[in-house]
Amino acid sequence: MDLRNITKIGDGMAKKWWKESVIYQIYPRSFMDSNGDGIGDLNGIISKLDYLKDLGVNVIWLCPVYKSPNDDNGYDISDYRDIMDEFGTLKDWEQLLEEMHKRGLKLIMDLVVNHSSDEHKWFNESKKSKDNPYRDYYIWRDGKEGNPPNNWQSCFSFSAWQYDETTGQYYLHLFSKKQPDLNWANSKVHDEVFALMKFWLDKGIDGFRMDVINAIGKPDSFDTEWFTPDDQKTHRYLQEMNQKILSHYDIMTVGETGGVTPETASLFTAEDRNELNMVFHFELMDADGGKWTCNRFKLMSLKKILSKWQTQLDNKAWNSLYLNNHDQPRMVSRYGDDGEYRVQSAKMLATMLHTMHGTPYIYQGEEIGMTNVPFTSLNDFKDIETLNWVKESLAKGKTAEELLPIANLWSRDNARTPMQWNDTENAGFTTGTPWIQMNPNYREINVRNDLKKSDSIFHYYQKLIQLRHQYDVIVYGDFHEYFNDSEEIYCYTRTLEHQRLIVFLNFTANTVDLILPKELSSKKAVVLISNYVEKNDLKSAQISLQPYEAVVYFEEQ
Ligand code: GLC
Ligand code: CA
Repeated sequence: MDLRNITKIGDGMAKKWWKESVIYQIYPRSFMDSNGDGIGDLNGIISKLDYLKDLGVNVIWLCPVYKSPNDDNGYDISDYRDIMDEFGTLKDWEQLLEEMHKRGLKLIMDLVVNHSSDEHKWFNESKKSKDNPYRDYYIWRDGKEGNPPNNWQSCFSFSAWQYDETTGQYYLHLFSKKQPDLNWANSKVHDEVFALMKFWLDKGIDGFRMDVINAIGKPDSFDTEWFTPDDQKTHRYLQEMNQKILSHYDIMTVGETGGVTPETASLFTAEDRNELNMVFHFELMDADGGKWTCNRFKLMSLKKILSKWQTQLDNKAWNSLYLNNHDQPRMVSRYGDDGEYRVQSAKMLATMLHTMHGTPYIYQGEEIGMTNVPFTSLNDFKDIETLNWVKESLAKGKTAEELLPIANLWSRDNARTPMQWNDTENAGFTTGTPWIQMNPNYREINVRNDLKKSDSIFHYYQKLIQLRHQYDVIVYGDFHEYFNDSEEIYCYTRTLEHQRLIVFLNFTANTVDLILPKELSSKKAVVLISNYVEKNDLKSAQISLQPYEAVVYFEEQ
């Protein structure tokens, strides 16, 4: 049966282009520098579109490229309708979109509207006086006896309130003090945001990734120990946004939503709710103690969390699948082995990401197995979250020696060192001095090397992406887990009509022998992809998995 011709599948989930897509995330500052100033830019991206086309992805999510003083690398926007000088001009951006569409690549832009930059004209006006027409674009409160209005902490350490002398009040900033929160209780803010969304949509973009979007609903009461978003308000705002803007275009949306569970995520994404298409959850990222600890992830937690999301969205809502991005450590360092088994474990993790139910996201450099960075001094870090955490921790009496290894595990800079294109000076990223140090391993780990080797991580990703475009069961199949108790392997099937995938992933550096339950042995199953050449078949009741082995079988009844 040719499933491409029908519009519904399985239990009635609609077929959509964004469910069948693989999305590639670009962090422009670190992707490719075209003019030697050490900073990646739009022309640099244009020069690498053929590379991305060759990889096989069909959607690109571009992190913010708007005008910004770069306190948080573009997530602090001072003009939503223009391009950051370092990255190029609006004309370059139009050229980029045209070159992408020419190649059949779609573009989704970052929408950062929980906050703006404090250098945005709205904020400049807002802080001038209490009766300025822009005052209510932001969230201003009186202090309490010389202290901030409450104890809320910013996500980047310290108080979430900043005192402003002009009017003697504090403004709320859930992130840096140069990122004042917009006041979504004010309908004028909606109109401004909807208009700027329309500006980009009418230029032909294919969707938005919405930054910390569930934080826009602020609670009624500020008399609380910590900030908890009011989801009911956010749902109202998003439904209005959907009705007025999103529903008029054939686009995709993905919201970044910390703190959601499958249940609450479904409220943002279920198809009959008309809000967003999918969200990024943080349950895996926050598991096992989370950030700024020395804990390593446990396979049991990973399996529990991922399997839960696979089954509990239950054909009502759609998953997004990611293991790293510009805010997280490199996935091979975090969930695999970035030493002896770097290649095998990077491929194993990729196999998991690309054979689960949902849309996979690849973060730049992941496709060649880029690793965390071994910085040797706290002075090497550039990321504001890391720098503030260091400042706060030193003030609490920690020493630099204690902090460095933790920063090397967790800093967002692990993901932000430049893309490693080849083994020449600065990895071919720039002819100048890169804005942040390169990962010294670029002489070995780089695109040119991977393109040369037929069994490289790059070529493995290429194959995984092709398979997704070929097999509907990879996109739409139902998920079922086996060996739930195993602390070494993750095993699941995906089933659609008469097709079945059987996936085995070894998360350890040991050989693991498995006795298969009857349902998993098969006379017909063929290997679709594996990171080892020597492969078991499923005819006998037993298989043996080599270190970090991944193998995917396919059978048709
Ligand atoms: C999101 C972004 C992150 C940024 C923060 C504030 O989490 O992904 O990079 O620092 O929002 O905009
Ligand atoms: Ca540049």
